[in-house]
Amino acid sequence: MKKIISISNQKGGVGKTTTTINLATSLAAVKKNVLIVDADPQGNASTGLGLTYNDRKPSIYEMIHEKKLLTEGIKETLIPGLKIIAANTDLAAAEVELTNFENREFVFKSIFNEINNFDFIFVDCPPALGLLTINSLVASDTTLIPLQSEFFALEGLSALMKTIQLIQQNFNNNLQIEGILLTMLDKRNSLSSLVEKDVRRHFGNQVYKTTIPRNVKISEAPSHGKPALVYDTQAAGSLAYIELAKEVILNQNKNHE
Ligand SMILES: Nc1ncnc2c1ncn2[C@@H]1O[C@H](COP(=O)(O)OP(=O)(O)OP(=O)(O)O)[C@@H](O)[C@H]1O
Ligand SMILES: [Mg+2]
Repeated sequence: MKKIISISNQKGGVGKTTTTINLATSLAAVKKNVLIVDADPQGNASTGLGLTYNDRKPSIYEMIHEKKLLTEGIKETLIPGLKIIAANTDLAAAEVELTNFENREFVFKSIFNEINNFDFIFVDCPPALGLLTINSLVASDTTLIPLQSEFFALEGLSALMKTIQLIQQNFNNNLQIEGILLTMLDKRNSLSSLVEKDVRRHFGNQVYKTTIPRNVKISEAPSHGKPALVYDTQAAGSLAYIELAKEVILNQNKNHE
């Protein structure tokens, strides 16, 4: 059975793409079949996995717009067991064009229904609460929310929670929160620790035990077109994403008991 997880937060630069790439890679490393859907016109997940411009078509946009086949759009990556539906800037047009679609909130869902043979599908959402993110959430079983460990972390989260509630009420009553992930944590910085405490007090066991440290190897990896886990397997950030993958699998097993 496949599980579809959107990585969402309309706040920019909080670690959505980094989490998508490295969590997906960690799960592929333990022999799960994993697909990333790059739903962000910036195409950072596609770049971070080393896809060249020509590799990036058809994106989910061409699948929607030109009815291109999934089989054409699902590309191999350098990681065995990890595939991707890439994105390019054309996807920005989808945000506008989707508004004219009947069932405009369900377009991703109908595409994902045709995708089989994966254990996990991760959708890397753009930093906005527009139709691309809404489509991702409507099509997902759960959403994982990265939060940057800084003063403004919680700002904007209520808008995201409201959107999730609206989607649960109107389009997808099965949507659940997979977990909240603290990213770019700097343990030496007392503000970082305060933010962590605050988030844990607020959201309790929805927050992963694992936190992702601020780690230079993580920020260097995308420019090499590699996940941090491949760029430097022993880096603190890489090890943290392996721990996160363990938690995701544990939660998955718990839910199936
Ligand atoms: N743990 C980390 N340590 C150091 N740098 C990080 C870490 N996580 C992410 N970064 C860097 O921070 C920047 C933003 O991360 P990322 O692209 O994953 O965020 P995002 O939420 O996907 O951004 P956007 O909203 O633009 O899609 C990137 O340059 C990334 O390399
Ligand atoms: Mg991103």
